[in-house]
Amino acid sequence: MNIGVPGLLKAHHATCLSITTASLRPHSALASELRSISNMETKTLAVDARNIGTVTATPLEHDVLDELDIQLDSQTIDAQRLQKAAAQLKTSDVPVAFPTETVYGLGADATRSAAVQGIYKAKQRPSDNPLIVHFASLNQLRSLLRGSSSQQSNGAHVNGTPEDPIPEIYRPLISRFWPGPLTIILPNPQNSSLAPEVTAGLQTFGARIPRHILALALIQLADVPVAAPSANASTKPSPTAAEHVAYDLEGRIETIIDGGPCDIGVESTVVDGLSIPPVLLRPGGLSLEQIRIVPGWEATEVAYKNKAETESQPRAPGMKYRHYSPKATVILYEAGRKPPTTDELLQHVGVHARVGIVQTELWTLDDSVSPPAIRKNPQKHPQGNTEYVQKVFGFAGMLLDVQAADRAKPATRKHTIDNDQVKEIITVDLGAKTGDIARGLFSALRDLDRQDVDAIFVEGIDDSESGTAAAIMNRLRKAAEIRVD
Ligand code: TXA
Ligand code: MG
Repeated sequence: MNIGVPGLLKAHHATCLSITTASLRPHSALASELRSISNMETKTLAVDARNIGTVTATPLEHDVLDELDIQLDSQTIDAQRLQKAAAQLKTSDVPVAFPTETVYGLGADATRSAAVQGIYKAKQRPSDNPLIVHFASLNQLRSLLRGSSSQQSNGAHVNGTPEDPIPEIYRPLISRFWPGPLTIILPNPQNSSLAPEVTAGLQTFGARIPRHILALALIQLADVPVAAPSANASTKPSPTAAEHVAYDLEGRIETIIDGGPCDIGVESTVVDGLSIPPVLLRPGGLSLEQIRIVPGWEATEVAYKNKAETESQPRAPGMKYRHYSPKATVILYEAGRKPPTTDELLQHVGVHARVGIVQTELWTLDDSVSPPAIRKNPQKHPQGNTEYVQKVFGFAGMLLDVQAADRAKPATRKHTIDNDQVKEIITVDLGAKTGDIARGLFSALRDLDRQDVDAIFVEGIDDSESGTAAAIMNRLRKAAEIRVD
């Protein structure tokens, strides 16, 4: 069955940000270090998915993406840019940044060691942290799993068949959630074409089919599996807009495909169905509850920690945890805690500090600090007011456009305090909706960092019902140097 609609993308209204990277230089010490290592010209190329051509998706049995076909309209600058990026992915050892529905990825040909090493170099990521491999279709994944030998190197609970090498346990899961924010752990076949750097020595690898049309098109055009971690500098918050990538990796990569802000804003959920019972390795855009309703996944256990991992504990007193961390000290108030009083602010940051506050469900400006004297310069949030449309495949014989236009933009307000205690307070209001908080969180941390605040006080949310809230609080607890329980 072919559910493709010729001209599909013509009906898709994606809004692309046009980015000026000149003003987005990394800060001081990091900047000079980065410049000394590398100084490539980094180009941010806006690509409007409406203009790239025709994309046809073909499911065979279930509602999953078995095959993807792309007819580029090579007259358009958008198609040309995408084609060039795909060629670069395929041939260059310098990775290419591209949008996905979760966060921006930094992609390289997963079958070439030099290309994969390029990712670790650009990000300065420790090489013992394995990468997720992105595919454009199930058939592309199946062909990798078949490898050059039908034998599997991993003895653990592997029950793929010659007809379908994807283990049985995953089939109902991926038929529901792919393409989408889900990464599954698979056995790496013997004679695998994956470069060893992808798996960091493990016998398994993480696989995902993303839902973003530009990500799918890029992978399909490159015609290689694409290893891609989040496109931030290691330890920094993940990038949810092209300008975040430019800020972190300017001079270290050549191409950033700008497809506008990411729809979800936190990374994919990582699950391992090879162990019994299945486990959730990283909370993300898909919730535990959504996974547990799938046959075979009812008993899924949580196997992630909410604190920074041991190896990332400070090596010396005063060193920050190195995860999702802006430069500023993050102070996380768990859900239900009252906002900090001026005295509490001063306790944490001392006098004359610049303070950032990220508020979510309950805090309001008025009770967060007493009293903000002068209100000035409402700040425009970089993702704000941007009408954003995400193409989602609806596989019940139709394709649907999910339009997330007019998403309430996080409001940012700056207050100069007219006493000599706290110098300035910049408040970002992410709103009370979990989806909005996920979408705006990393961007808010980055914005505040760019405004050189000394500390960021964050209002945590209730994650007892899990959902995406679990992913949000997981990232915040890792980013936070201080937690107020
Ligand atoms: O949403 C996402 O997943 C984004 C976009 C770009 O797709 N990618 C991303 O990649 O977040 P990265 O590299 O930042 O995170 C990869 C995660 C890590 O938690 C890593 O430990 C886990 O996946 N992972 C990868 N391979 C694994 C394996 N073989 N076994 C267990 N965990 C694995
Ligand atoms: Mg990451």
